[in-house]
Amino acid sequence: MADENTTNGFPAQVISIIGNTGMHGEAQQVQCQILEGRDKGRVITRNCVGPVRVGDIMTLIETSREAKKLSNRWFKMEQRKCSFCGKMLEPGTGTLYVKKDGAAYYLCSSKCRNNMKLGRIPRKVAWTEKARTDLNKKNWSPVGPYQSQGMIIMDTERTYVMVKPDGVARGLVGEYISRIEKKGLKIVAMKMCVMSEKDAKAHYAEHAEKPFFGGLVSFITSGPSVSMVVEGANAVKIMRAINGATKPFEAAPGTMRGDYAVDTGRNIVHASDSVESAEREIGIHFPDKSAFITYTRADEKCLYE
Ligand code: RTP
Ligand code: MG
Repeated sequence: MADENTTNGFPAQVISIIGNTGMHGEAQQVQCQILEGRDKGRVITRNCVGPVRVGDIMTLIETSREAKKLSNRWFKMEQRKCSFCGKMLEPGTGTLYVKKDGAAYYLCSSKCRNNMKLGRIPRKVAWTEKARTDLNKKNWSPVGPYQSQGMIIMDTERTYVMVKPDGVARGLVGEYISRIEKKGLKIVAMKMCVMSEKDAKAHYAEHAEKPFFGGLVSFITSGPSVSMVVEGANAVKIMRAINGATKPFEAAPGTMRGDYAVDTGRNIVHASDSVESAEREIGIHFPDKSAFITYTRADEKCLYE
């Protein structure tokens, strides 16, 4: 509960972001809904430092030196909306596209980007007739991550990956992490644990009816596994490629499973198969938002256009 006589914060959920930045610890203005205390439900606007995503729970500090620090660092930023769907661009996301005529478009996701390129008419954004007829693929050239005032806003996503108990037992944690790091993806959360039966069943719920489900759950809970949340452009697809095909005899050499596994039931690693699965799995294994660490890799500027 908020107590104005202490420096304790109170939890609030981010419902929208005003300003558009965040990859490098810059400040941003966010709208939050207070979740606890006498002001529960009230929507307030605050200045914050670091990447914040809609839905994140953050602790707001009302009366402290930190608050002063935050307000000192805050500066007004450009507000960007997706040119297709009209949604506010989240910090750390979005790509700037420039058409040959010089018009700039900020697109929040690959879905909006494709819709835009295909000339579909957005429901929420009214386009001029000219823009509509101009929507020709050839006229579009992506200029990569949106850069402004030295800030990089990338087309980024998060995925959930795991070294399964067989991978841990065989000493492959370091190898896996090394491949993730060398590829250029960023590990933003990591833990070692023996997965509970409840979490294992929730994780593999899509296989509940399959004959191998029982064996899979008992194996995955049989010993320590290492769970990670990995971030970067196309992180979901990249991690699936690093892991290789489910059946190790189909996995290409150079992939984790292709190099180190033999049996499908002992295929050493896991990675979410879609952005939706990633969100679901991250929610199961990292329910506490404070597990996510914000930092900048020194090579980020070399990794992205
Ligand atoms: P994972 O979820 O573990 O990353 O693997 P995946 O997406 O490549 O494969 P999925 O179809 O989701 O299967 C989940 C895990 O179940 C085991 N499995 N056994 N005996 C079988 O026929 C069989 N099929 C799948 C594997 O351990 C697989 O990784
Ligand atoms: Mg799977």
